[in-house]
Amino acid sequence: MGNLLEIRNLKVNFNLDDQVITAVDGVDLDVREGEVLVLAGESGSGKTVTALSITRLLPRTAEIVSGSVMLRGKDLARLSEDSLAAIRGKEIAYIFQEPSSFLNPVYTIGNQLLEAITLHHGKDKEEALKEARELLALVKIREPERVLLDYPHQLSGGMNQRVFLAMALACRPKLLIADEPTTSLDVTVEAQILQLLMELKMRLGFSLLFITHNLSIARRIADRVSVMYKGEVVEEALTEDIFKAPKHSHTRELIRAYEKIGRL
Ligand SMILES: Nc1ncnc2c1ncn2[C@@H]1O[C@H](COP(=O)(O)OP(=O)(O)OP(=O)(O)O)[C@@H](O)[C@H]1O
Ligand SMILES: [Mg+2]
Repeated sequence: MGNLLEIRNLKVNFNLDDQVITAVDGVDLDVREGEVLVLAGESGSGKTVTALSITRLLPRTAEIVSGSVMLRGKDLARLSEDSLAAIRGKEIAYIFQEPSSFLNPVYTIGNQLLEAITLHHGKDKEEALKEARELLALVKIREPERVLLDYPHQLSGGMNQRVFLAMALACRPKLLIADEPTTSLDVTVEAQILQLLMELKMRLGFSLLFITHNLSIARRIADRVSVMYKGEVVEEALTEDIFKAPKHSHTRELIRAYEKIGRL
């Protein structure tokens, strides 16, 4: 399979008042067409900063010092803000931890879904509403009519993540980036959301860049795993290979930590 996304030599600094922090230090990363790539690594290793750099969603203090981010041959790092805005949500979409903090508390789920649906398309209201119902069905929400009228606080964490996923998939992105999307959920709901993600990936054919420090999730869902450590990708391999014969000491440490608590 060819590469959908190719990141080369990505370096990102945070320019703070009294110091410069290098958060990402020469990352190379490929996401293949239709694959699940898990980006693993300890807290602070640069996973989120790498993910946000792809469409330049970084905080103001961050600076992309070097690197290219090629999406099917187009360098996103060289695109204007306007051109990139057209790609966000449409070709590359994100889901995050704590969906409720990204959903607007004063608008109904229906309103927010309609906004996501009409963002990149001139659909009329009737069409958009039909699409909203279909999207809720896609993420297996059983009572779409009721949920459309609900506010985010009326739904559970798992339901909000389903809604957020529906919004992310509204424009049928080629790449879905999921940054710790199940970390705030209990294990049962986590398993349901992971299952749903895998089903939707098969059905819609997007590539999934899934970020987690949880190696048991990596083992369950990944085709390949990349491990970050201190701003660099230190190891990248097929899932079965990385668990069978981890090469980098940090990968071995992560695996040992999980084996110890019996999660693998
Ligand atoms: N807004 C910020 N200002 C300054 N430094 C930051 C900021 N955000 C991140 N960093 C630094 O960049 C580095 C990488 O952070 P990042 O959030 O990408 O880590 P992560 O691998 O996603 O960790 P976690 O698993 O905890 O989410 C860290 O050392 C962090 O301290
Ligand atoms: Mg993170």
